[in-house]
Amino acid sequence: MFPFNIEKKYRPYPRIHLPDRRWPNQAISSAPIWCSVDLRDGNQALANPMTIDQKLEMFDLLVGMGFKEIEVGFPSSSDTEFAFTRMLIEEKRIPDDVAIQVLCQSREHLIKRNFESLRGAGKVIFHLYNSTSPLQRRVTFGMNKEQIKQIAIEGTRMIKALRPTLPDSEFVLQYSPESFSDTEVEYALEVCEAVMQEWEPGPNEKIILNLPATVEVSTPNVYADQIEWFCRHLKHRDHAIISLHTHNDRGTGVAATELGLLAGADRVEGTLFGNGERTGNLDIVTVALNMMAHGIDPQLDLHDIPRLREICERNTEMPVPPRHPYAGDLVFTSFSGSHQDAIKKGMDLRKGQADPDAHWAVPYLMIDPNDIGRTYKAIIRINSQSGKGGVAYILQHDHGFDLPKPMHPEVGKHVNDEADRRQRELTSDEILDAFTSAFVDIASPLELIEYDVHRVSAQPALFRVTGSLRLNGKESLFSGEGNGPINGFVNALERLGYKSFNLTDYRQHAIGGGSATRSAAYIQIQDKLGRRFYGCGIDTNIELASLKALVSAYNRSVNAPAPDGK
Ligand code: KIV
Ligand code: ZN
Repeated sequence: MFPFNIEKKYRPYPRIHLPDRRWPNQAISSAPIWCSVDLRDGNQALANPMTIDQKLEMFDLLVGMGFKEIEVGFPSSSDTEFAFTRMLIEEKRIPDDVAIQVLCQSREHLIKRNFESLRGAGKVIFHLYNSTSPLQRRVTFGMNKEQIKQIAIEGTRMIKALRPTLPDSEFVLQYSPESFSDTEVEYALEVCEAVMQEWEPGPNEKIILNLPATVEVSTPNVYADQIEWFCRHLKHRDHAIISLHTHNDRGTGVAATELGLLAGADRVEGTLFGNGERTGNLDIVTVALNMMAHGIDPQLDLHDIPRLREICERNTEMPVPPRHPYAGDLVFTSFSGSHQDAIKKGMDLRKGQADPDAHWAVPYLMIDPNDIGRTYKAIIRINSQSGKGGVAYILQHDHGFDLPKPMHPEVGKHVNDEADRRQRELTSDEILDAFTSAFVDIASPLELIEYDVHRVSAQPALFRVTGSLRLNGKESLFSGEGNGPINGFVNALERLGYKSFNLTDYRQHAIGGGSATRSAAYIQIQDKLGRRFYGCGIDTNIELASLKALVSAYNRSVNAPAPDGK
C-alpha cells in the first residue's frame, strides 16, 4: 500500500485510435539500418564521459562490428566533442561507407559550429532535434505548438542554408521530435511534415525522421500504434526513413523497438548493452541477437560478445549485469538439475548430428552460446540442487569420462552431497576430485599387487589370470580362468572365497588422444543384499583398467555402510 492516492497522482497513458492496426500480423524479416548512439546518448549518460582515446576505441569497435551509421557526438557542445569529430575526419579514420552523425539543437551558433566540425567529412547525418511533448512545451519551454514547430522549421532552414558549405559531403538531415512517444501523434506529424516541407527530401534523398521514446511512457503496443499511425499518415512516406529510438524506463525498450519494426520503421538507434540515460537506451545487441535466434542475419558482427562487453565495460565503466540477455555472466548457466539433464540430452543429440548448422534445438538454451563466443564450460555449475546429468556433463565435457548412464545417479548423488557438505558450488576440478576419490582406483581393503594374463585357447576363448593380492592386510596368490581377463579374475576371487557379488555391467573407453591415451573402465557389481555399486579403473593398459574397475567396485561395496537392520 502506498501512502498516497495512486489514481490521483498517476494516470493511464492515452491509447491511439487505430482499430485496424496491422502491426500485430507482421513479422520481422530483415535487419533494419542500425545507428549506434553509444558515443553521444550513451556517453552523455556516463558519470565519467569517455576521453577522446576511449571514444576512438569505441568508434573502431563499432566500425568493426559493421555499423554504417554512428552518432559520434554533439560537436558544438564541447571542445572534446568538437576535437573528436575533427580527429576522425582529419586522420581519415572513417571508412567510406560509414556515415558519422552529429546531434544539434536548433540554435544558429550551435548549428554553425557543428558544420565547422564536419569540414572534409564524407557521409554525414546532421541530427536536429527539439522537444515537442505537451509536458515539455508547457514546463520546459513555456511555448505553444506553433512556437515549438517554428523552432524545428528554423533549424531546418539554417541547416539548408549552410548545406553548400560541405560541397563534398553526402549529406542527410535527421529530425527528431524529442519525446515523440509523449507527444500527440497528430502534432508530431504536423511538425515532421513542416520540417520535410522546408527540407524538400525526395525518394532518392530521404530525410530520417527519428521518433524517440525519450521517456518510455507506455506499453510497447502503444508505441507500435504510434509508429504505425505516423507511417500511415505521413504524406510522403517514401521520402523518409522512419527511425526508432527507445529508452527503457519501463524495462520494455527492446520490445518497443521490436514492435516498432513490425509497425513499419526502417531504422533503429541504440547502444551496445543498453548504456544510456536513466534506465538506458535500447540495447542493440539484444535486438540483433533476437533476430539471429529467429534465423535473420542481423548484419552486425556479434560473434565475440565477451570482447565487445570487455571493451564497453572498460570504456564506459558500466558493468553488464549477470542476467543481461546474451551477455550476462549467468545467461548460459543452469543451476537447476532438471534443466541440466535436459541441456545434456540436447547437447548429446547435437553431437550425433553430422551437419554443424543443423537446427538448434537444445532445451533452455535459446541460441548456441558458441555462436557468440560464449563457451559450454559455463553452462552447468554444480551445487547441491544439481541433477545427475549436470555432473555427468562436466565429467564428460571437461575431463573426458563418458560414464555409463546407470552410473549417473550414484556419481551425481555423491557429488551433490559433497557440494552440500561444503555449502557452495563445486568447480569443475572439485567435481573431478569428488568423483575420482570415491569411484576411481579404490584400492582398500582389496588391493591388486600384480597380475598376469595368459590366453589358454582362442576357440573357445579361455584366459588364465594369475597374480597376488592383499585383502585386509593378508597377502594371497591367486589363479582363475574365464572367457576374458575380468571373468578370470572373478573366478580367482571365487576360488579364494572372496566372491560375494555378481557382475552386472562393464564398459570401457579411451580418454584423450595420441600415444598417451589412457583407458577408463567401469564395472558394476551387485552384492548379496541386491545393492549395486560401480567402480572405475584408469590405466594405459586396458586389461589393467578393467581389473582396477572391478577392484574399485568391490571395495566400494564392502566399504558401504550396512543398511539398517542388516
Ligand atoms: O532520447 C532522445 O529523445 C534523444 C534525442 C536527442 C533523439 O536522445
Ligand atoms: Zn535518447
